[in-house]
Amino acid sequence: MLKSKILKREQLRPRVGVVVGTRPGIIKFAPVIRALQDNNVPFDLVHTGQHYSPNMDRDFFDVLGLPQPQYTNDRTCTFSTHAGQTAAMMVGVEEAVMDSRPSAFIVGGDANTNFAAAVAVRKLVAVELAHMEAGLRSGDWRMPEEHNRVMIDHISDVLFAPTDMCMETLRIERVKGEVSLTGNTIVDAVHQNIELARERSTVLNDLGLERDGFALLTMHREENVDHPHTVKRIIELLRSVASERRVRLVFPMHPRTKKRLEEFGLVDAMSAVENLHIIDPVDYLDMLQLLDAADFILTDSGGLQEEACVLKTPCLTLRENTERPETVDVGSNHIVGSSAEKVFAAFAHFDSMDEYTWASPYGDGRAGQRIAERLAKSADLIV
Ligand code: UD1
Ligand code: UDP
Repeated sequence: MLKSKILKREQLRPRVGVVVGTRPGIIKFAPVIRALQDNNVPFDLVHTGQHYSPNMDRDFFDVLGLPQPQYTNDRTCTFSTHAGQTAAMMVGVEEAVMDSRPSAFIVGGDANTNFAAAVAVRKLVAVELAHMEAGLRSGDWRMPEEHNRVMIDHISDVLFAPTDMCMETLRIERVKGEVSLTGNTIVDAVHQNIELARERSTVLNDLGLERDGFALLTMHREENVDHPHTVKRIIELLRSVASERRVRLVFPMHPRTKKRLEEFGLVDAMSAVENLHIIDPVDYLDMLQLLDAADFILTDSGGLQEEACVLKTPCLTLRENTERPETVDVGSNHIVGSSAEKVFAAFAHFDSMDEYTWASPYGDGRAGQRIAERLAKSADLIV
């Protein structure tokens, strides 16, 4: 282990560091990891330990065929506050990067994992810091993710923007780093796994579901599930959707949501919603199969808004805003908050369409390759 506080350029090695730590991060980095492997770029995976339950973490490494992380951090799960969790992850990433000494290090998205890793790497000075999924903004300063997006973008050296709109945001904010348009690796992830999902996933049979005969629900955002009055409003909303629409709602429940329902004494109220089927989180192939076959999706997830757009499944977003307005612009996504009026207006809109023909704004499915090539350039310079 090096004793110095920072890393100097001459101490770096021709390799790339990749942070993983949350479910969406593992899924979205899978195409980058595959491209690094295909291009023979040496890399280390650094796991922050933010997500740790097997069905939020290990199962995704298995189903996506990813190598095990070289560095893991078992301390993170003992902290539950933002600062505690972030600090624990920063220390873990710093130790890992001091040991591995990569010439470039990439973080991806807006979870605390990425903020912690970005700050730790930035403070080591010479390692080039890259941000995948740069330039997203919800404008909602209640969201921990919005703080992370802004802070990461403004300390990164290399910014990979998924869309033109994100490019424009980064230009207006005058970020310091080099910006390029890559597309979103979620398209790569969907393309690489959808056929496998159709062949291998048995989730529809297991749950007794038929194509278009059900809807998918996910919900885990802090601003939704951490406030009992909001949870109660959403339960009411689900009740009217499930009964008036006469549709079965399949709900793979995030562990945060489960914990909050228990704390608020709302488990029974949620379980009592007619036609609501609560299940454990599912693996990526099962999720793609559910998403592909669902009549529509109700969600507050970022990744699912994008995947629904790519797979042409109507999406209703249970939030007041989105950092993915491109999906609203192309017509695949309606922002409905917890308003029954907005939900039924969205249904009326989707019902009036003969076919879902919107075009995905997220690129051609080669984002992983573009990102790997740019990271390889940083690593090459060190050889
Ligand atoms: C985090 C991200 C959010 C992202 C989500 C993806 C932040 C601020 N939020 O939210 O942007 O959409 O991940 O899923 O980083 N828990 C488990 N097992 C796990 C993980 C979490 O039981 O594997 C429970 C724990 O009780 C934990 C709680 O969920 O305290 C919240 O987890 P945390 O990682 O803090 O935030 P997420 O809600 O997962
Ligand atoms: N996902 C999954 N199983 C689930 C729920 C989500 O595989 O039970 C996938 C989903 O397809 C998407 C990603 O996890 O790729 C989104 O993660 P999440 O909603 O937790 O986080 P967000 O995208 O909101 O940050």
